[in-house]
Amino acid sequence: MAGWVRELERRGGPALRLQQREAGGVGCVVWDAALVLAKFLETGACPLASRHVLELGAGTGAVGIMAATLGADVTVTDLEELQELLAANIESNRHLVTGAVRAQVLKWGEDVTEFQPPPDYILMADCIYYEESLEPLLKTLKDLTGPDTCVLCCYEQRTVGKNPEIERKYFELLQVDFELEEIPLEKHDEEYRSEDIRIVAIRRKPALVELWGRGRGYGTTPQRDCLRCGW
Ligand SMILES: C[S@@+](CC[C@H](N)C(=O)[O-])C[C@H]1O[C@@H](n2cnc3c(N)ncnc32)[C@H](O)[C@@H]1O
Repeated sequence: MAGWVRELERRGGPALRLQQREAGGVGCVVWDAALVLAKFLETGACPLASRHVLELGAGTGAVGIMAATLGADVTVTDLEELQELLAANIESNRHLVTGAVRAQVLKWGEDVTEFQPPPDYILMADCIYYEESLEPLLKTLKDLTGPDTCVLCCYEQRTVGKNPEIERKYFELLQVDFELEEIPLEKHDEEYRSEDIRIVAIRRKPALVELWGRGRGYGTTPQRDCLRCGW
């Protein structure tokens, strides 16, 4: 299929080479939010070595593959139609990976049993963009997060059309069960940052953590701060 390669430079060595496709929908190109989140991971603010990481709506896999080059054990997920592109990008960059990386189908709102236990991190870049997806996406986040899971959600603030309303609704629904904190711009990569691209760290609210823990034999002490990166 026709396409072109997007290079994503890395601090630690050769650039990632990410194939993009001319046809195939929004997931077939690397979005700016993915660049910002991938480069934020490289700052080392969130330790990734040997951590379990799940990426939602991975598209080309840029963010998850970057995490795998930083030593994480990563599962990049997206719809069935993105699997060929994800697999191709994993193979093109496998020699740079110091952790592990694989691709799997995960459609928001569907059963996530096979992705248990909860990962240390969930990564999302540019996944808040259509209204029908909000509730399934939030269900998936609830089903996947445990007491120690840190969700890093990077999104571009768009001012046109329905975008502001979709963003508002997403954060309204999200805050029923989750706490969030924006990662300040000065903590983003010095070059790959932009006023309109935000990174938010998201954790389950302590009450939910407590209930979750009771059902699964975890301690009941609410954990308010992410122990790994302190956001
Ligand atoms: C705007 S693209 C972002 C891709 C990539 N994260 C990036 O930033 O370059 C949104 C991604 O979400 C995926 N997506 C949309 N709806 C989804 C759903 N219901 N379940 C799983 N993935 C979905 C799309 O296939 C697409 O890859």
